[in-house]
Amino acid sequence: MTAKSNAIKEQSWQIGNSGLDYSMPGVPNHRGGLHPLTIIRREIDEVFLSMGFEIAEGPDIEDEFHNFDALNTPADHPSRNLADTFYMEGGKLLRTQTSTVQIRVMESFKPPIRIISPGRCYRNDKPDPSHSPVFHQVEALVVDKGISMSDLKDTLQSFVAIMFGGRVRSRIRPHFFPFTEPSAEMDISCVVCGGSGCRVCKQSGWLEMGGAGMVDPNVFDTLGIDSELYTGFAFGLGIERIAMLKYNIPDMRILFENDLRMLRQFRGEGQ
Ligand code: DAH
Repeated sequence: MTAKSNAIKEQSWQIGNSGLDYSMPGVPNHRGGLHPLTIIRREIDEVFLSMGFEIAEGPDIEDEFHNFDALNTPADHPSRNLADTFYMEGGKLLRTQTSTVQIRVMESFKPPIRIISPGRCYRNDKPDPSHSPVFHQVEALVVDKGISMSDLKDTLQSFVAIMFGGRVRSRIRPHFFPFTEPSAEMDISCVVCGGSGCRVCKQSGWLEMGGAGMVDPNVFDTLGIDSELYTGFAFGLGIERIAMLKYNIPDMRILFENDLRMLRQFRGEGQ
């Protein structure tokens, strides 16, 4: 007998005496999964990357300049109120919107600009089915010569069609934001009833998706971008809203409680 087979024999004798039963089935090693918000955020990234956007990031801890002043928000605007914004020591605050990243990108880069910026935002809101003090938005900004409202509508419709399916329509309605002129609110046709009216869309056939508009020339002027030469559009979407619609989640708080019975339903999705 060769030395090798002797060694194997010796080893199997040891195993036989170790008290272990090697014929027993293995203990399953449960696989983790991605959080639904992560799955949706990655999906959103993919859609915009495929449309030629780049991903930009900015800090969660901001200052008044990036969160308000440079976004053309007057000193007495209600959103600056202590009741809405978490202020910190030394003039810092937790950003209330990802629109801050528009400013940071335009400070550092010259047009043409075509970015999205997904990230966390903070507002002093009590948790309820549609509010959370921590939530996520994705901001989009496109700046170039000759950008118009129709580019905004087209980008929005393409995004909605990929995200929710080709039958879902989008529309914009006049609204007001300090940093866009004109400003609009974006709706999509109800993904539950298709627009005929149901409980989810409160019989209106439409669901609100976020804010949008043409970048206000004041914002360009603050950042030294020639507002005679360049125009741009911007929008901000709520990521929780998209996740809740896609996965039929009735209450935003479910997304933050991390109950394993909920999380397990997403195991294996979006890997
Ligand atoms: N930042 C706004 C909010 O949190 C959403 C928004 C509105 C973003 C208009 C935009 C925009 O980029 O153009 O309510």
